Amino acid sequence: MIKAVTGTKDILPADIPKWKYLEENVQRVFQNFNYKDIRTPVFEETALFARGIGEETDIVGKEMYTFKDRSDTSLTLKPEMTAAVVRAYNEHSLGAQQSLVKLFYISPMFRQERPQAGRFRQFHQFGAEAIGSKSPLLDAEMIQMSYEILVSLGLKKLTVKINSLGTPETRENYKKLLKEFLEDKKDKLSEDSRRRFETNILRIFDSKVESDQKLIKDAPKLIDHLDEESKNDFEVVKEQLKKSNIPFEIDPALVRGLDYYTKLTFEIDSGSVGAQTALCGGGRYDLLIETLGGKPTPATGFAAGIERILLACENEKSFSIPEHSINVYIVRIDNKLESVISELAGKLRKENVSVDFDYLQRSVKAQMREANKLNARYVLFLGGDEYNEGIMNLKNMSNGTEEKIPIDLIREFVAKLKQR
Ligand code: HAM
Repeated sequence: MIKAVTGTKDILPADIPKWKYLEENVQRVFQNFNYKDIRTPVFEETALFARGIGEETDIVGKEMYTFKDRSDTSLTLKPEMTAAVVRAYNEHSLGAQQSLVKLFYISPMFRQERPQAGRFRQFHQFGAEAIGSKSPLLDAEMIQMSYEILVSLGLKKLTVKINSLGTPETRENYKKLLKEFLEDKKDKLSEDSRRRFETNILRIFDSKVESDQKLIKDAPKLIDHLDEESKNDFEVVKEQLKKSNIPFEIDPALVRGLDYYTKLTFEIDSGSVGAQTALCGGGRYDLLIETLGGKPTPATGFAAGIERILLACENEKSFSIPEHSINVYIVRIDNKLESVISELAGKLRKENVSVDFDYLQRSVKAQMREANKLNARYVLFLGGDEYNEGIMNLKNMSNGTEEKIPIDLIREFVAKLKQR
């Protein structure tokens, strides 16, 4: 038997209602904040992500699904959406039609990470990108939207962490400080971090090696060396969060695993999902549009992992979905009526009544069992003498009452059924 590839999973019919419930909440919140839906291809030219996310990041260095197509073009399954959205923004000059473009997405992503609870190789994100304004109010909006969505799903054990990475100049100065601090400890760093010491020293903060983490624990903090503008913007974000009653912590080590961030970064963690705690993350990326060939344009955004959020919801039992039901199950008493039943079901379905019936020549008892299993609200019995007199029996499955319905009044019956 061929099985699903490691790190991927089927979303079976029993799980779909949870996904739909989450997606409805996501769409409602994004619409309230006036974000418009965007969909981009599943694969892009590899250069887009390499340039956009950064060569030295774990995503580009170790996790991308990259392959050559028959014309020898290097393609990559999208590991994230921000670079893809910016590519579309530049390619279609979306900024020419509107100076602030607010977009959202729900889409599968692909990263070849080691699978574990809450970490997959194909996973799904929802997220938003606001391109065209440097206002820190928009950074706060990203946190407000993501927090609101998580709260709407009933999640409680949430921690909002924020940090600022400053402008590129601030960061260059800070990198020098970090280099000085690590210079005499360099030899004790892991091999990856020793390389990053030379190529992109900030990425050492991403290291999962414990000894690296110990070494950088007392390093100077970027947040203590911010430029005036970044400092002021950070204050505005903090102020807005307080006004929105969103509790937050400042986490100076929150550099995030992608190179494009400037100024604000944030993550929302859950205390209910084990090791992979980040439900969502994002921040400002004022240089990415230019890096990918567009005009200099400030932007900010976030993305959240759906599988991880649903895991947190399950562990916190944060919401429950009413059991799936159908309106009517038609029970055939007389085997000759098969095609009449099929015709009747067709009529009801056209009136938007959900209907099912038996296709397996089962006994009346077995058909009733099926009606119960399908959680039918009503059972319609067809057959016997009553049918010959033009009458059907309708049983209300929630209270057991029965009523007789003339077959030629089926339309009126449907209208009544819809009102109930
Ligand atoms: P990210 O932090 O790489 O950011 O991913 C965002 C979220 O996606 C994570 O917090 C996590 O919940 C989920 N996620 C990431 N990798 C996996 C995985 N292997 N399995 C399951 N869930 C995962 C970004 O992707 C940025 N594009 C966010 C952003 C948008 N920044 C600005 N705009």
